[in-house]
Amino acid sequence: MSDFPVAALRSVEISTPDLATSVDFYARVWGLTVAAEAQGKVYLAATGDDFHVLELKPSEKAELRKITFRVRSEEDLPRLLDKCRVAGCAVLKDIGVADAPSGGQRFVIREQQGAVMEFVHGDQRKEPKTVANQVERLAHININSADIEALSTFYQQVLGFSQTDRSKTMAFLRCNDDHHAVVLANAPINGLNHIAFLMPDLESVMRGSGRVVDQGTPIGWGVGRHGPGDNVFAYFVDPAGIVIEYTAEVLQVDDSYRAKGPDEWVWPPGRTDHWGIAPPKSEACKRAQLAVGFAGI
Ligand SMILES: [Fe+2]
Repeated sequence: MSDFPVAALRSVEISTPDLATSVDFYARVWGLTVAAEAQGKVYLAATGDDFHVLELKPSEKAELRKITFRVRSEEDLPRLLDKCRVAGCAVLKDIGVADAPSGGQRFVIREQQGAVMEFVHGDQRKEPKTVANQVERLAHININSADIEALSTFYQQVLGFSQTDRSKTMAFLRCNDDHHAVVLANAPINGLNHIAFLMPDLESVMRGSGRVVDQGTPIGWGVGRHGPGDNVFAYFVDPAGIVIEYTAEVLQVDDSYRAKGPDEWVWPPGRTDHWGIAPPKSEACKRAQLAVGFAGI
């Protein structure tokens, strides 16, 4: 039986050179709602039970500032922190009260490839709703890595994730029944590849994508259905240059799932998804997937 100390990917923090434009995009176009403003940051919520799923902070450039995971129990916090210390992570904030309005106990580390990670327990939740065409929660974060194997080993051995699949260029890692909460993408530099937001269903991915297109942001890749995870997708580039994805129908797995390797995850020539009708990914989307680095906190 899998025994995951990390329960879920909760939220991400990104910086933007134009906070007002980014808040307008996520609140009016992407479909989140402003949950709080505090300490110069704007916290945006989806319809699920997380107090917020996105933190926006003004800065000179767009960067990934922090990935926040929810931890299963308060007792797991010191256990995880010790393992992170032994693994060579820098401890940026020891166990204490979280800075976000959602509170809870947390610690913050920087793993050796540069990503800042927060682990929180006991944060404030809200009554979840499912609303057609609106984001429920985060689905996954995709991290660029110049050494996927080392980072995947860290996620598995230190954070307790399981690797569900490994294609030639990506490793898929889970910490609950979702096929993946974290994806590692082979890249020349470490950084953020994209952030995926979970929609209630395929129809909501389609209608949500139409809303974003109507407001002047074209689809960067999709709509299609991925191989590993079998989820439907539509990719966009936000006003700050961050690649974001609407997704739905993520494969649910348990310990009986048989992980496939690079030899099995091969598309027929010309294909990049199951349906085979998605136009090629835009050059702007490809560039943006390699353009966002990690920041401090
Ligand atoms: Fe994705």
